[in-house]
Amino acid sequence: MNTPRTLGTPLSPTATKVMLLGSGELGKEVIIALQRLGVEVIAVDRYPNAPGHQVAHRAHVINMTDGAALAALIEQEKPDLVVPEIEAIATDKLAELEAAGKITCIPTARAAQLTMNREGIRRLAAETLGLATSPYRFASSLEELQAGAAAVGFPCVVKPVMSSSGKGQSKVDSAADVNAAWDYAAAGSRVDSGRVIVEGFIDFDYEITLLTVRSLGADGKVVTQFCDPIGHVQVQGDYVESWQPCRMDPVALERARDIAAKVTGDLGGLGLFGVELFVKNDMVWFSEVSPRPHDTGMVTMATQVQSEFELHAKAILGLPVNVALKAPGASAVIYGQHEAAGIAFEGVADALRVPNSDIRLFGKPESFARRRMGVALATADDVETARVNAKEAASRVKPVIVK
Ligand SMILES: Nc1ncnc2c1ncn2[C@@H]1O[C@H](COP(=O)(O)OP(=O)(O)O)[C@@H](O)[C@H]1O
Ligand SMILES: [Mg+2]
Repeated sequence: MNTPRTLGTPLSPTATKVMLLGSGELGKEVIIALQRLGVEVIAVDRYPNAPGHQVAHRAHVINMTDGAALAALIEQEKPDLVVPEIEAIATDKLAELEAAGKITCIPTARAAQLTMNREGIRRLAAETLGLATSPYRFASSLEELQAGAAAVGFPCVVKPVMSSSGKGQSKVDSAADVNAAWDYAAAGSRVDSGRVIVEGFIDFDYEITLLTVRSLGADGKVVTQFCDPIGHVQVQGDYVESWQPCRMDPVALERARDIAAKVTGDLGGLGLFGVELFVKNDMVWFSEVSPRPHDTGMVTMATQVQSEFELHAKAILGLPVNVALKAPGASAVIYGQHEAAGIAFEGVADALRVPNSDIRLFGKPESFARRRMGVALATADDVETARVNAKEAASRVKPVIVK
């Protein structure tokens, strides 16, 4: 597509229909952004009443790793665009449907295929594009992992090739710990492929997400634009806090943009990408990329003129985008803290008394101790104040079990 889409009326024959594959908190915000443009949205997830289900025109519950079920639903709904929001999807089926001209997948089916498996995206980045990454090996057995860990050196990080949010991931300090890391990866893998990546540990000063948008320019050509870098803190491979803008050495920022332009240019298509990078002084390493909005980018709901969700929604429709920063700000995650269905949230009013703060509660039907149930946002004159305030607001929200 090299012209903007003409937008129709939802629930009518002219409707512009978008199907979200995955309808968590990120999908929910993309759906709201699409709704504002009068797009008809079909939300799909593996469980009922997912956050995005609650704001879409229609909701479906299917196993998205089941190619036949996915193809049947696409055939039934006939969306103009198919938008993966998670990694665990039958991406080979999407590629087949795309190749047959039956769907347009965002950004491309190939991008979804390559990024659902760490091996695909890592080999592309390091071996095809020649980008700086941590040293790495892949292993399909404990023996291969032991050899791989020895090759990349200690400390190193072991991750299932198919996993997200730090699941099954562990840091290994010596050869004696490799065994435990192998078992832990097997337990945390999304699909028990029995394959892992072992990466040399990068002793970075800080890590960023560089949100990168591919949208159509007035001449019908794709333009690549970068949001201000987002700094974040991860605990056990899961994001707990993010802020924007993240102050950076100008040489490092230039390198970060160069890496992001190369990797998103290769993946192609239209939409927003979250490029994860490690930074030390002026050195930058590519870590991974989401061909979709990024969890650390939730901060942009407070900090940018257009949030990452709005940028994605506009870009995929062929519309122009504005990546400008509005104010420095931060986000802090609100965890469930309990294992229960239908929890309640006390203290929201107190949280909103923190200056320039806001709260999002995702509406997930079920809570786990470490499940992300909401996020606190704050803006301020400087990022440091915003970080303090976002964390304060998050801490004032108290998930409780209602008896
Ligand atoms: N090679 C590495 N060196 C240092 N830290 C790492 C390395 N790989 C991962 N991490 C840390 O773990 C986090 C999660 O790893 P990542 O590869 O992004 O997994 P996920 O797909 O689960 O987000 C990173 O954001 C970073 O903080
Ligand atoms: Mg990551």
